[in-house]
Amino acid sequence: MSKTSPRHFLDLDVLDAKTLRAIVDAAHAMKKSGKHVPAKMLPKAIADAILCMIFEKPSTRTRVSFDVAMRQLGGQTIMLNHTDLQLGRGESIADTARVLSRYVDAIMLRVNSHETLDEFATHSTVPVINGLTDITHPCQIMADIMTFEETRGPIGGRSVAWVGDGNNVAASWMHAAVKFDFDLRIACPPSLRPSAAIEKWVRRNKGRLLITESAEEAVSGVDCVVTDTWVSMGDEDADRRKQLLKPYAVDDALMKKAGKDAIFMHCLPAYRGNEVTNDVIEGPQSVVFDEAENRLHAQKAILAWCLGA
Ligand code: CP
Ligand code: NVA
Repeated sequence: MSKTSPRHFLDLDVLDAKTLRAIVDAAHAMKKSGKHVPAKMLPKAIADAILCMIFEKPSTRTRVSFDVAMRQLGGQTIMLNHTDLQLGRGESIADTARVLSRYVDAIMLRVNSHETLDEFATHSTVPVINGLTDITHPCQIMADIMTFEETRGPIGGRSVAWVGDGNNVAASWMHAAVKFDFDLRIACPPSLRPSAAIEKWVRRNKGRLLITESAEEAVSGVDCVVTDTWVSMGDEDADRRKQLLKPYAVDDALMKKAGKDAIFMHCLPAYRGNEVTNDVIEGPQSVVFDEAENRLHAQKAILAWCLGA
């Protein structure tokens, strides 16, 4: 068992800003170097490392981009649905974490409940990576910061509007606003506001955050407009959400109120005709497929950091 505590990548609020900046910078450099990242940019340990991935929810991007990232870095992967494990029959999270830590070098989890992630990380002796929970999605936002920067330059001091559900992806944007020092404006209906605890954390850390019911107010002059599905995995009130969120659809008229050079981001999967119109997501301001590609590069940098000396 390792004596030093593992480098978990659980959430942006618990990592220092310098580390997060270094990871994004490494991701930019790794993207430039193409498929084969030079060995000098990687920790030695990665060459024969094994990443185990456990999914309690579906995934396209996270699943494939982590798998490809690990392989291109010289490591290997094991992919499991939670029902493949004894976890599905009641073995404890703590025991599962302790056992898997004896076999593999890092573990990525996509879980229904954030508590599962925390419990797993408490007992794991190898790095644990958050591949989405009900509360946050930090790997996505690392790719999003990278995407903003490669199209519009450094994100520090710039402005981002989140329009729609105050969900898990919004929560990681809130963490990022503090860590990467940009203005974040969230437009949402009152009953779908982001977590009050995370809002408090942002205010305590002097983040520049506006939460409003008005999509127009949020996007006015911003550098980037972001949205996400109105019905996240695990949400059981789809009809109510679709009703509540109708005024928050991102369409051409709303994009016109953003800054002249504003980009449009969406973590995908997207539901055209709900949270975004086809015209916007397929339009010239949309960078959603760069964003999806950047999951690969950002996660290479996250893996290198987690497995670093
Ligand atoms: N954006 C994202 O995490 O996509 P998947 O659910 O397909 O992994
Ligand atoms: N908010 C969405 C993100 C999917 C990547 C969900 O949790 O389903």
